[in-house]
This record gives sequence, C-alpha cells and structure tokens, in this order.
Amino acid sequence: MPDPLHVDLLRVDLLQAKNLCAGYGEMEILKTVDFSIREGSITAVIGSNGAGKTTLMRALSGLIATRSGAITFDGGVVSGLPAHERLEKGVALVPEGRLVFPDFTVHETLKVGAFSPRAHEGWKQRIEDMYALFPRLLQRKQSRAGSLSGGEQQMLALARGLMSRPKLLLLDEPSLGLAPMMADEVFRQLRTIRDSGITICLVEQNVQAALDIADYGYVMEDGHVKMHGPAAELLTMGSIRESYLGL
Ligand SMILES: Nc1ncnc2c1ncn2[C@@H]1O[C@H](COP(=O)(O)OP(=O)(O)O)[C@@H](O)[C@H]1O
Ligand SMILES: [Mg+2]
Repeated sequence: MPDPLHVDLLRVDLLQAKNLCAGYGEMEILKTVDFSIREGSITAVIGSNGAGKTTLMRALSGLIATRSGAITFDGGVVSGLPAHERLEKGVALVPEGRLVFPDFTVHETLKVGAFSPRAHEGWKQRIEDMYALFPRLLQRKQSRAGSLSGGEQQMLALARGLMSRPKLLLLDEPSLGLAPMMADEVFRQLRTIRDSGITICLVEQNVQAALDIADYGYVMEDGHVKMHGPAAELLTMGSIRESYLGL
C-alpha cells in the first residue's frame, strides 16, 4: 500500500484554481471553485446545463476575468493575464460550437492556428502531424471549413487548437451535435492527444464517454464543485448514475 502522502507528492498539477470567483456583469457565477488538472491527464467536467462549466473554461483561459482567488499554471500565477498571454504560456481553449471561419479552407485554418509566437517553431511539421492525426482533414485540405460536416468541423477546431502548441487543451463540449460514430472518433483522438503528452480538460454532456476516457472528474452544480474524484470511481457512484447517466 503506497503511503498516501507520498502519492500526493508525486501528483504534479499543471493547473490549479483556488477560491476562484468569476461571472458576468453583476452576476457571480463561479463561487469559490477549487479545481486542479494533473499534468498528463484527461480531466472531465460534468454537470447539468447552466452549472457553470463553460464559465469555468472561460475563466481558466482568460476570456473572462478572475474576480477573486487565483489560477496557477505551470508554476506561475496566470489569473491576472489576458487570454493571449495565457495562450502564449500554453493554455488553449476550443470553445463550444467549434467556431471555425466558414470561408477559410482547412489548410488556412490550421495555419492561422499557429499565429502566436509560441506556435511558430515547427508549424509546418505540426500541420503534417495534424493531417496524420485527422486523416479526414487531409482529404478536405482545400475545402472551406463551412462545407465540412459537424464532426469534421470539430476535428478542425481541435486541430486548430493543437496548432498553438498547447500544454493544456481546454475543450468545451467537443461531442455536442455529432453523430455517435463521429463522437467516438473524437474521443479516441483525445486519448491519442493525451498520450502524446498534452494535458486535456474536457467539458461534456456525454458523461459516460467523458468519464470512460478521463482519469479524473469534477461534477459542477450551481457554480461550485459538488464532487470530484477518479473518473472510474465517479462512474460507479449511484448519485452520478442517477443524475447524469439516467440509470
Ligand atoms: N455571457 C453571459 N452573460 C451572462 N450570463 C451568462 C453568460 N454566459 C452564461 N451565463 C450564465 O451563467 C450560468 C452558467 O452558464 P454556463 O457556464 O454556460 O453553464 P454550462 O456550460 O454548465 O451549461 C448560467 O446561469 C448562464 O445563464
Ligand atoms: Mg456550456
């Protein structure tokens, strides 16, 4: 039996949020959220509609300001930094709804994904890596993003995020609206991405699939963390199965 303290010391958090509060205008949405992402893991965030999952992704990536509390990433405090500076440190968000420019070709979209200084080194090779990871994108290289299927657009959004050379990839609802086979393909690719050394944090409505591929999970409710634990443990909990898996 490993000593629990020793196990804890081995745990390296790439990102930590402590007492994080954030919201919109007068509205306080995240209320003292404690949250961490272990380096090299897939962390899933689940919870009902309106629980604050997207708001958490926006706060971590810097799209909305931290009102109080702190976010550390890769050993430094980032909570005061704007989104482009966090991107430069290796935090990339693939927002909900994919949001690819419809008139750009697949190839142009990938090039634009490498716009930041951090991403510049090795960008040509990285595009080839993306075509190897997502062969569908290679077939559609010169197609306009707007003409792709929902699943292909999701892959393109993912690949665009990876073009920024992230250490941490934040994904908001990557399987939303996809046919089941496409969603499966995306989930398989997430594993491959994690295995290549990129840490992933994933918000998902598809709780079963998310916890199946995740190492760790957080359950959010009404702007706070209701529960967290190893994904395999969350999957066996009666309350999770009833509330989120309809079992
Ligand atoms: N841009 C916004 N302005 C004001 N309120 C918002 C905005 N986006 C989300 N909210 C509110 O914040 C709460 C949490 O939303 P969100 O983070 O999108 O939840 P989830 O992603 O878990 O469905 C909801 O009550 C929602 O209405
Ligand atoms: Mg959301």
